Amino acid sequence: MACIKLKKLEEYLHGLDNFEKPKIKLEQYITPPHIASCVLYNIQTLYGDIEGKYVGDLGCGSGMLSVGSFLLGAGMTTGFEIDEDALDNFHTNITEMELPGLDCVLCDVLTLPDSKKWENAFDTIITNPPFGTKKNSGIDMCFVKTGISLATAAVYSFHKSSTRDYVHKKFKDWGVKGNVVAELKYNIDTSYSFHKNKSVDIDVDFWRCDVSEKNVS
Ligand SMILES: C[S@@+](CC[C@H](N)C(=O)[O-])C[C@H]1O[C@@H](n2cnc3c(N)ncnc32)[C@H](O)[C@@H]1O
Repeated sequence: MACIKLKKLEEYLHGLDNFEKPKIKLEQYITPPHIASCVLYNIQTLYGDIEGKYVGDLGCGSGMLSVGSFLLGAGMTTGFEIDEDALDNFHTNITEMELPGLDCVLCDVLTLPDSKKWENAFDTIITNPPFGTKKNSGIDMCFVKTGISLATAAVYSFHKSSTRDYVHKKFKDWGVKGNVVAELKYNIDTSYSFHKNKSVDIDVDFWRCDVSEKNVS
């Protein structure tokens, strides 16, 4: 069950402000509202990982996944983001939509300040991390590793489908159960000048990692 209809959720997410001047090296592009609403809706209806839960969003940008989680009834949502301009957009979005209970922290997810404070603080972590295409290969799995230390129930993340075997191996190495729960065609409608085309399609996996037994050996 979800407390909002999928169509309504997508409508709200379409209304959010995007990155004004996306920063290429931070891989700033929004999760398209159609994809964001579908995956969040399924996280709630299939797994019950949002409503009444404390949800964290790593690399929250302008708030697509944080706001979506909140609209789906998250008890509280906290976003983590390295870029001040993106957080300005986040604040504008939550102010315009008059959403209380949403919070964001300006920080580097890779070197989280007060990391002990955040350990196991969340039920659910959701992240659309940088894929690691800007000489920062592996950054997506660093986000997930942080997510695993923060969550007690599940970590959801997006990764390029071409890295599926690698992601599987990492989860196995870390002793957690990860599965691809959706295969997506991700259209990055980008203003990035180095792209020849106006938009690029990439195959993306959406993963669910069950961390409920992460400390059981
Ligand atoms: C692909 S965008 C996703 C944005 C948003 N979560 C969404 O789904 O629309 C990745 C985000 O991660 C942020 N980011 C990149 N490196 C980061 C880091 N080391 N720590 C925190 N945030 C970071 C970027 O600024 C960007 O907002």
